[in-house]
Amino acid sequence: MSGLILAAVFLKLSRRTNLNGPPLAYYRYPIIGHTWRFLTDCEKLILESREKNGETFSLYIFGQIITVVGKETTHEVLKKDQDFSFREGFRVQVPLHLIFRNSVNPEKNNKIIRDYIIGKLKFLISRLQKNIIEAIDLHIGECVEPKVISNPRKTLADIIAIPVANIIVGEECYMHEDILEAFKDITYSVFLLFIIPPILSFIHPWLHQQFVTIPFRFGWNPVSKHRKVILNRIKPVIGKRLYDKKRLGDAWVAPLDALQCYLDDPEIAPDLDPNHVNYHYIVDAIGGFIFAAMGTTANGATRALYDLVERKQKYWQELYQEAQEINKQCNGNELTSDDIAKMVKLDSFVKETLRLSSGIVGLPHKCISKSSYYTFANGYQIPSGSLVMVNFIDTNNDEELQGQNPTEFYAYRHLERNSPAIKLERNFLSFGGGKHACPGRALAVNEIKVFLHKVMLKYDIKADTEGIQRRKFFGPLASLVKGGIVFENRKEIIN
Ligand code: HEM
Repeated sequence: MSGLILAAVFLKLSRRTNLNGPPLAYYRYPIIGHTWRFLTDCEKLILESREKNGETFSLYIFGQIITVVGKETTHEVLKKDQDFSFREGFRVQVPLHLIFRNSVNPEKNNKIIRDYIIGKLKFLISRLQKNIIEAIDLHIGECVEPKVISNPRKTLADIIAIPVANIIVGEECYMHEDILEAFKDITYSVFLLFIIPPILSFIHPWLHQQFVTIPFRFGWNPVSKHRKVILNRIKPVIGKRLYDKKRLGDAWVAPLDALQCYLDDPEIAPDLDPNHVNYHYIVDAIGGFIFAAMGTTANGATRALYDLVERKQKYWQELYQEAQEINKQCNGNELTSDDIAKMVKLDSFVKETLRLSSGIVGLPHKCISKSSYYTFANGYQIPSGSLVMVNFIDTNNDEELQGQNPTEFYAYRHLERNSPAIKLERNFLSFGGGKHACPGRALAVNEIKVFLHKVMLKYDIKADTEGIQRRKFFGPLASLVKGGIVFENRKEIIN
């Protein structure tokens, strides 16, 4: 067996020997390579390797050689979508295609996000804020006496699920408890399954993939109960919509939601006949949508709320004043997208939260170059099929890119550069970049801003007596923030 392992390792390493590969950072123990340090002391490992080997280097982790690219080469990887794919890179870690199996076309979901969600965001803002107010009332509520929310992460998932479900499955069924549960739980269930350490990858990554996907091949799926719920809830809605459309013809007003976008697609719902609708495709496409939108936005909102509490002394008064002025200008009416765009200080605050929550390394991209290897502009070569990770701290800690004290939270860093949160720039990698940069970022940023705006106007907030704790998390991920937050109604009432 040990001979087999050594042969596999040798075979993998020898594939690179003819290439001008990036320098492999020093490691002490064969086979283990950098794995242990990557999991337990990632930041130091990356900083040291960067210093000794330069901007692009390789690490040997879980039996694979992974290339880590710094601030210059990152943009080459993000831009060259013919040579590098995040979808393929992510799939190596989380085989979503095995969970949402109906060969969902990701480009269709991207188009829905671009055309319908972002294209119609102006019209969706009213619903979005109605949903967020509804969600805040439901999950934080009136706090005449101080109320401790001991697990803000869970509360934020409860809150964000409501506007996201509304936009995806529509007004008719978004508030069902089981639907909201599915929205909250899908990302979590999928991730739980894939935090199994890829021990078998020491032999070959293929073996690990085969191992973690055994349950799927026997028909088990962590999200099957949620798929059933979504299917049961959308089926009658689809039936009614198709019936109404047939009956009313041009007089029928199509609802604005992702569900309707699938129904408008003749490949998914031909001839307005409910019997011919490809329900399984719709459910899996919705599952992919939830996976992309829910965990990311809820996490961003949670971190921004913690940042607001922790940095209250420095920023609260100014941010509150901005919120109050915008609120006054609205005269108690709903916020429009122009009003949200006027929250420039809050926008910059949210961008800073997102910038500093990207972790140490991430955004795995698989090299999909058609030739057998790819040559970077800096001359280094890597074989096609290998994995590249982005060194976030190389960009985040860089004074030239970020301005003074780059590792510190400075809320107006982006405002001073006139760079709104949805703008992709070389100093900000939280939404990726290039052609495949996050298409849902405007929705996410608007949700987080509206949420914080409403919270600031309604409540006073502070950390619970135990304070807020930031703890190093597993491997390259951002530190984990924990701790209760106390909400109390503001004394002056504002509409
Ligand atoms: C704060 C919240 C969010 C963060 C931090 C985030 C981050 C990201 C990142 C880093 C990528 C990879 C980009 C790349 O390959 O360069 C991505 C892709 C994507 N995101 Fe987001 N995202 C967020 C919210 C959302 C929302 C709300 C939606 C849906 C409405 C969404 C839909 C997608 C989709 C569909 C992709 C894949 C794009 C493609 O492969 O072409 N994201 N996101």
